[in-house]
Amino acid sequence: MGQGRFRGCTVWFTGFSGSGKTTLSFALEDYLVMRGIPAFSLDGDNMRFGLNSDLGFSDEDRQENIRRVAEVAKLFAESGVVTLCSFVSPFREDRDRARKIHADAGLPFFEIFVDAPLNVCEERDVKGLYKKARQGTIKNFTGIDSPYEPPLNPHETMQTSEKSVIECTQQLVDLLVSQNVLP
Ligand code: PPS
Ligand code: MG
Repeated sequence: MGQGRFRGCTVWFTGFSGSGKTTLSFALEDYLVMRGIPAFSLDGDNMRFGLNSDLGFSDEDRQENIRRVAEVAKLFAESGVVTLCSFVSPFREDRDRARKIHADAGLPFFEIFVDAPLNVCEERDVKGLYKKARQGTIKNFTGIDSPYEPPLNPHETMQTSEKSVIECTQQLVDLLVSQNVLP
């Protein structure tokens, strides 16, 4: 599958909690599915309730979280689906491993840096987690007491505090067209 007008691939969104990863992933999924292109979103919020429910937020658990997600994404991509992954994925090494898992299978992998400044994410505080992290109720929170390593060479950077969801989605569609994933 996926050998015809479009190709299976993985689009990997990385960024702080609240940066807009899930929003962009769902917007792109909608755009693609409306045009008959199979697309599916994997998200920290769903994967961590099922397959990865045994994992927490230590460095080791995040590493294992990303490894499993990358393997699942690879299978989806192999089946011809445009697979959209939105995970904080704070460590370069883990994202590089995800890329390698795809490269070894001959599948395109695009790293998208969802680049909203920490103070903006904290102001949004969609889930109220930053507040808890500042209070110390949640430990190892990315950007507060756990590091985030920004991508050095992402395929695209999304300035979600400056651009609308529609503009960002268009930017992603342009990328997929330029990379021959979409016609
Ligand atoms: S990771 O680092 O890639 O393994 O994390 P991920 O699977 O994407 O899960 C991140 C979501 O879980 C919530 N959450 C936390 N994020 C960061 N650090 C800590 N300690 C934490 N605890 C819970 C948070 O809501 C993330 O969701 P998003 O959608 O990114 O805001
Ligand atoms: Mg999310």
